[in-house]
Amino acid sequence: MKVLLIGSGGREHALAFGLLADSAVTQLHCAPGNPGMGEIATLHALDVMDNEATVNLANALEVDLVVIGPEAPLVNGVADKLRAAGFTTFGPSKAAAQLEGSKNFAKEVMNDAGVPTAKSFLCQNQIEIEKALDFFGAPFVVKDDGLAGGKGVVVTKDRDEALAHALACKRVVIEEFLDGPEISLFGISDGKNIIGMQPAQDFKRAYDGDSGANTGGMGAYSPLSWAPSEIVEQVQREVLAPMIAEMAARGTPFVGLLYAGIALTNHGLRIIEFNARFGDPETQVLIPRLRTPLATLLYKAATRDLAGVTLDWRDESAVAVVLAAPGYPGQPLLGGEVTNLPKIHCAEIFQAGTTKSGSGIVASGGRVLSITGIGSDLTEARNCAYRGISQIKLEGSFYRTDIALNASVAEKGN
Ligand code: AMP
Ligand code: GLY
Repeated sequence: MKVLLIGSGGREHALAFGLLADSAVTQLHCAPGNPGMGEIATLHALDVMDNEATVNLANALEVDLVVIGPEAPLVNGVADKLRAAGFTTFGPSKAAAQLEGSKNFAKEVMNDAGVPTAKSFLCQNQIEIEKALDFFGAPFVVKDDGLAGGKGVVVTKDRDEALAHALACKRVVIEEFLDGPEISLFGISDGKNIIGMQPAQDFKRAYDGDSGANTGGMGAYSPLSWAPSEIVEQVQREVLAPMIAEMAARGTPFVGLLYAGIALTNHGLRIIEFNARFGDPETQVLIPRLRTPLATLLYKAATRDLAGVTLDWRDESAVAVVLAAPGYPGQPLLGGEVTNLPKIHCAEIFQAGTTKSGSGIVASGGRVLSITGIGSDLTEARNCAYRGISQIKLEGSFYRTDIALNASVAEKGN
């Protein structure tokens, strides 16, 4: 099978790693990819927002499967164009990707599907905004309705800050604060059937102790030994299956990866958000743990053939830690040289914001790379990831030192 993977982040590097581990894959092409992906696959220059160029590339390469990594091209309708041109494509249509593209649309679908989420208001002006803020009270949750690269959400006790963010958004959703641990649980869907993957936990804040601004994600781990054992079945039953059925009933079936961000509150689970693609950095811990051949799995999803498929997981734990450029998530300082990438048998490095420069690489994005440690438990996986990341040199860069720390301590106590 010849596969074309679209995207260039850490998520795509991990997907490339997983696709290549499937013996059905004879060629892997990535566009535009990154230098790390270039070591394992053939790279092609591409503006991922140019749908015609993407179709032309798939045509030129005569690929059997196209996998779309990032949300922006999906919301821009690339999957529709690829399917219209006859390509087997893993990734939702423009209409179905609105589950991520519009927070308000996602709320409407959840409402119709009976899926539990935070109460919310869509606000169009200052009077409505202030009314909604005062209705819920602190802590305030203010969300830009459109795509914002994981940075459109402000959660704060400061009403002025909440109001300022709300006024800066074109359309804004203001919602109830959800208290409780968050998990990410992904479902792979063929439009009719959906299979839940094991959950992962992401660390959204920039610094240790969940301080600092929201980021795209600073680290992740899996499995979640503290989560209820029936969580996958429960999310499957109460969230994934009803969402897929509702999208199909609306005439916009969701074929691709449905990402459920879930808060486990005292009143039960509540959806924080849906995304229409694999999460980053959760993918960097899930893919190394997934034993089921990835390309075959995504091909089955793309050809509406998932009925009866189950997933097979390794027993090992995985912990991913992100190395960020100085200044991330604000204005990151780019161009710094990244050196000393270690080769460790228990870890994989997944590049993200990197570009080739001479014989080396430089930082070209806020999240520069991540390193996934694998071990028999979370403690071993953490030790491996941190041993690796501590060797990497990039001036002014930083990483969180507490990824999976509490979970690894809790696991040891069991
Ligand atoms: P989102 O982009 O919707 O995932 O939001 C980013 C982060 O903001 C989430 O991972 C949560 O940590 C936080 N967040 C979003 N919505 C809520 C909510 N209703 N209550 C509490 N925290 C939230
Ligand atoms: N890790 C959060 C996301 O992928 O949106």
